[in-house]
Amino acid sequence: MNKPIYNFLSTDHQRLDKLLNEAVADYNAIDSEKYHQFRVGLLTHIKMEEKILFPAAKKANGNRNLPMIPQLRLEHGAITALMALPPSKDLTKVIRYILNIHDLKEEESGGVYEICERLAETDTAAILQAFRTTTPVPVHPPNASPYVFEAAKRALKRAGFDYDEIVGLNLSE
Ligand SMILES: [Fe+2]
Ligand SMILES: [Fe+2]
Repeated sequence: MNKPIYNFLSTDHQRLDKLLNEAVADYNAIDSEKYHQFRVGLLTHIKMEEKILFPAAKKANGNRNLPMIPQLRLEHGAITALMALPPSKDLTKVIRYILNIHDLKEEESGGVYEICERLAETDTAAILQAFRTTTPVPVHPPNASPYVFEAAKRALKRAGFDYDEIVGLNLSE
């Protein structure tokens, strides 16, 4: 089955994973230009989903609200808050942890990407065009202030994650 929306967004997930990996390949010499590309790319990906994909998914579902959208929005809020922080090993661990869970939810069978494949071909073409012409999200330089960090931790809590708990997890990396 042809899955153009799934393909577009899951390819973008892979592109962003790769950018992050490259940016933080050496934590003692983080590639700030690559990290900037990662932040802009991820925030722009979220913008496409919030502004284009979620409304399209609702339409594909007979204009009925989809039960998974509120949680996905909370996770976008958490990811967005993390993008305000300066990159570090701990932060990268938390970002990877949340993105793995979040991206899988979007990509899984019955997930929000698949639901959009029910749309008519003309709608799909319009959505892909809207994705391609989405303007990049402008970003401020990372902010090391404690209040930004605390705000990010609260945004994670709202989405069901605990920053310090994730940092303390023994994950094979
Ligand atoms: Fe997302
Ligand atoms: Fe996504």
